[in-house]
Parts: sequence; structure tokens; C-alpha cells
Amino acid sequence: MRATITGVGHYVPEKRLTNVELEQMVDTNDEWITTRTGIKERRVLDVDKGTSYMAVQAAQHILDQKRVSADEIDLIILATVTPDMPIPSAASFVQRELNATHCWGFDLNGGCTGFLYALATGAQFVETGKYQKVLVIGADKMSSIIDYQDRNTCVIFGDAAGAVLLEPSEDRDFGILDFDLHLDGKGVDHLYMAGGGSLHPASLETVQNRMHFVFQDGRTVFKHAVKGMADISEKVIQRNGLTAEDIRFLIPHQANHRIIESVSKKLHLRPDQVIENIENYGNTTAATIPLALSEAYQDRRLQAGDRIILSAFGAGFTWGSLLLRWSMGLDGD
Ligand code: UT7
Repeated sequence: MRATITGVGHYVPEKRLTNVELEQMVDTNDEWITTRTGIKERRVLDVDKGTSYMAVQAAQHILDQKRVSADEIDLIILATVTPDMPIPSAASFVQRELNATHCWGFDLNGGCTGFLYALATGAQFVETGKYQKVLVIGADKMSSIIDYQDRNTCVIFGDAAGAVLLEPSEDRDFGILDFDLHLDGKGVDHLYMAGGGSLHPASLETVQNRMHFVFQDGRTVFKHAVKGMADISEKVIQRNGLTAEDIRFLIPHQANHRIIESVSKKLHLRPDQVIENIENYGNTTAATIPLALSEAYQDRRLQAGDRIILSAFGAGFTWGSLLLRWSMGLDGD
């Protein structure tokens, strides 16, 4: 038995934050942001809404499209670094809003690789035959932890959610075929938010020292991201007896256009084999991959039988690659 994606959905807030608007907020300019990152604008969620709001919209879209009732869901895995609150999980809010009365669920923090961690985890429950319907969501409200006085980070990140439904496939040629995931804590010092956890609980001092915002040593993360994503994707492609020609699409984590370009070149992929939407949304952390996947499906770019590589790199450091064969459309759905 394989686990396969049978539904996709996404949500982005309406409010746009453009490069030109950022020029009024920090010492930056449209030209720098565009050439160094590929980003033109990002979305920002209302201050009175949490990450679960976006996760619910993305998941509800799937339930509506598939005409699946929320009480059929067995498990909700929500990849996020920005839960609505430290306790309880954002998955609890999603379960309540969806009224998914027969499930359990949890949040998973894998940084920008969170969605891949969650997808691989969800797939295990389906492959064993334990569960029939697993909702895997990647959602982040990065605007809640970004310092809009720090030009190193505020130009990069945005808010969004993406979701998939995993169900069993008897045909072992389709669905999630392989994955390779990694964690190396040597990366801890290069991308983190220090305040608000058990080591530095919220205090006047942590607020004054701006410790409730993300810090990133961009240059170091950049180098590791290119090598990490390229090497692991190459490994997954090769060990499945495939070459670049066999891959219909690479859907990379959208952190920087230059990272995506370098990884694609290392993998000998043509631009038409790479799905990129960073220009419109920036880096939405755990949401980038399911958002890009959902948009590509909506635009009818994905065909049944396509071999797709998902790859990401993020805080931890975490990184990984997942190979899947697209099955939606096989039976006319
Ligand atoms: O998603 C999780 C994983 N994250 C990533 O993969 C992100 C990886 N890193 C990156 O994407 C890039 O490193 C950044 C986009 C964050 C930065 O780009 P960079 O080309 O690595 O720039 P840099 O940090 O090396 O800075 C180059 C210069 C510096 O000025 P000096 O020291 O050369 O005078 C910065 O101060 O650009 C300056 N700079 C800016 N200038 C205008 C940094 N941010 C800005 C800005 N506007 N927003």
C-alpha cells in the first residue's frame, strides 16, 4: 500500500506587502530585493487572526472539493513554526473549526522542511493501513515573528497555508514513493527565534532585546540550503533509478530565487521542470511547498503519472527530499 495525495488546497491572505511599501519601512529597495531574492510581494494576515485560520481555509477547500465530511478525517498533522499559541497545538484549533470529530492531531516544527516532515509522517499511518484519511497542512503566519525594522528578514517572509489529503493507493506505482530527511543541530545558531521558549521565557528583557523575532544569518543558510537540497534530491532521484529527464517537476521550498536556480542547475533540470511562485508570496516557511503544489494543480500543470520531487531546507538545520508520483486525475477526479 502507498499513501497518495488525493486533494490539495491553499489559502493566502488578501493583504499584500510590496517591495515599494517596504522601502518606506526599512533601508531597502525594490531592485535589491528583486535581484537578491526574486520576491516582489508577500501576503500578510490580519493581526487578529492566527495561523490556524489559514490552515482551516486550506483544509476546508479540500473537504468541499472532495465532498469529504470532516468526521472522516483520522489524523491532522500541522507543520508550523507559528502556532496560534504555545499551548494548545494549532492542530486543536483546526480540529475544532473543521468539526473533525473522529481524529487526533498535532503540530510539527521542522522549520521550512516542516511540510516534508509532516507528509512523510502522515504517509506512514496510511501505508500501514491504520488510517484512510490524513490531513497534512503547512501553515505559517511569519508576520507575527518578523521584525519589520530588520531588513535582513522582513523583506523575505510572508503568510500562507497549503494542505493535502493523504489516502491509500493499492497501486504501488503511485503516491509517495521515497523520501530522505535530515536534521543537523549545528545549524541552530544560524536561524532561530530565541525568546518565548523555556530557555528565554517572555520577559521585559526578551521584548526589549527583540528576542521574539526571527534571526537569520542569511549567507550561511544560503550555502547550506543549496548544497543540502541539491545533494539530497540527487540521491533520491538516483536511488529510484531515475534521471533528470524522468522528473516532471521539482517543487522546491521557496526561500530565494537564487537558491532555486542553483539547485535546479545542479540537478540538470530545465526551468520548465521547476515550479516557482516566490515572486508573489516570498518565503512562507512550512507553507511554500503545499502552496506551490496546490497552485500548480489548480493551473492544470500536474498530470497523473508525473514524477515530482519536493525538496526543502530550513531552521535546525532541517532538510530533505521526497519523490512522489501524481495520481490525481487517474480516475477522472
Ligand atoms: O527558509 C529557511 C531557509 N532560509 C533561506 O534559505 C534563506 C537563505 N539566505 C538568503 O536567501 C540570502 O542570504 C538573503 C536574501 C537573506 C540575503 O541575501 P545575500 O545575497 O546573502 O545578502 P547578504 O546577507 O550577504 O548581504 C549583502 C549586502 C549587505 O551589505 P554589505 O555588508 O555588503 O554592505 C547587507 O547589509 O546586502 C545588504 N542587505 C540589504 N540591502 C538592501 C541585506 N538585506 C538588505 C535589504 N536591502 N533588504
